[in-house]
Amino acid sequence: MKLFIQTYGCQINEYDSERIVETAAALGYERTDKVEDADLIVLNTCSVRDKAEQKVYSALGRLRELKERKRALIIGVGGCVAQQEKERLLERAPHVDFVFGTHNIRKLPELLAAVQRSGARHAATDFYRDPSYMESLAGRTLVEGPKAYVAIMQGCNKVCSFCVVPHVRGRELSRPSAAIVSEVEALVRRGVKEVMLLGQNVNSYGLTSPGEITFPELLERINRVAGLARIRFTTSHPQDLSPGLIEAFATLDKLCEHLHLPVQSGSDTVLQRMRRGYRLAEYRARVERLRDRCPGIALTSDIIVGFPGETEREFDQTLEMLYQVEYDDVYAFAYSARPQTVAAKLYADDVPEQVKRERLQQVLAVQNEISLRKNRAAIGSVEELLIEGAAKLKKDQVMGRTRKNKVVNLVGAQPPVGSIARVRIVGATANSLAGEWLDSDRDSLYA
Ligand code: SAH
Ligand code: F3S
Repeated sequence: MKLFIQTYGCQINEYDSERIVETAAALGYERTDKVEDADLIVLNTCSVRDKAEQKVYSALGRLRELKERKRALIIGVGGCVAQQEKERLLERAPHVDFVFGTHNIRKLPELLAAVQRSGARHAATDFYRDPSYMESLAGRTLVEGPKAYVAIMQGCNKVCSFCVVPHVRGRELSRPSAAIVSEVEALVRRGVKEVMLLGQNVNSYGLTSPGEITFPELLERINRVAGLARIRFTTSHPQDLSPGLIEAFATLDKLCEHLHLPVQSGSDTVLQRMRRGYRLAEYRARVERLRDRCPGIALTSDIIVGFPGETEREFDQTLEMLYQVEYDDVYAFAYSARPQTVAAKLYADDVPEQVKRERLQQVLAVQNEISLRKNRAAIGSVEELLIEGAAKLKKDQVMGRTRKNKVVNLVGAQPPVGSIARVRIVGATANSLAGEWLDSDRDSLYA
């Protein structure tokens, strides 16, 4: 039997998809890239913006015909749209056999069995307060390549007014640190060199579990795992960027010098309407402290343009902020009203689409200029790369990432995938660097 899975959205969804594949494998499903060959199709969905949600409905539309031709085909929908829509999804799409929410990957065997037994269509969308639902049923067997995701927590207790995540992922819940550390150790035994720790607000790790260690302490534990070379994490809320976490960047050798610290806007009045809990000056003071303790650390950010009521002046403050902070990269999004959110209830989505598009273009143009300037300054330097696989454009060349998370495409001699190489940077665009392989120094680079 064959499983086809399509993943939308963020890294948490990619990680969840790995667990879906593992669970299905334990039931005898082998993964396929060809949707026509599948006996089971799973869409793991995202609802962070309206566009992402619409993509799911168009994908479901395309699957209707396949289902008519192939009666035994089973279609399941999981992830954030599933959590948001629950039974409504079964009503809206009669060819969907089951729906499973963000806490319900473990329910997959049950849901499938019900469909196979009697054609019963269920939506499993309960939230659990016991973090064991995050543990993998099948154990992790999936990981390919030198990098792996590890979820450390789920949910979010913040109340950013634009954000649907707390509604579709639930309240903050942390995995036990012992389970996380042994998962990292198991991954390292299988050749993983870099782990990316995942959570909607990793700074809150452990805070709601009595007796659990804090996030900086967790980083310190993982830093001690022999054979692991690199640690990354995402995402960190600026309000909770603690002195302890700043110290971790200064002291832990495996923690890579890159922080994704979404600012969302450069305007205090917009930040207030977004309920982000900080003013720009406070954000910038934290960035400064971080840069003091960890000079040269790469910073990236998320920006929302066209938040309700965003004036020209407020938007200009975002552009000014980009010049002041000088991020290495930003991800910019046009505001999209989301169900159940405070912003959708309080404010009309009143910035015209055309204006949002123009503002998006302006953010990208400013950031492009900054990224290019920063990348060019790296030419001539020597960087440590983890070689990840084939380059995007030239498949006979490999690419890797620096500790600051910059993509480097290798020209000339090609180091092996999975190795840690020293390279000299010889070229730069706004999006990537070109490098020449110097050597791969096992002794000094492996723990
Ligand atoms: N802390 C979370 C953020 C999730 S949403 C995490 O785990 O990464 C990722 C980004 O999507 C946010 O930082 C924000 O910039 C953007 N976003 C969220 N809701 C949005 C909305 N309603 N419209 C447009 N962009 C949104
Ligand atoms: Fe969303 Fe804000 Fe939490 S962006 S995930 S509510 S920190």
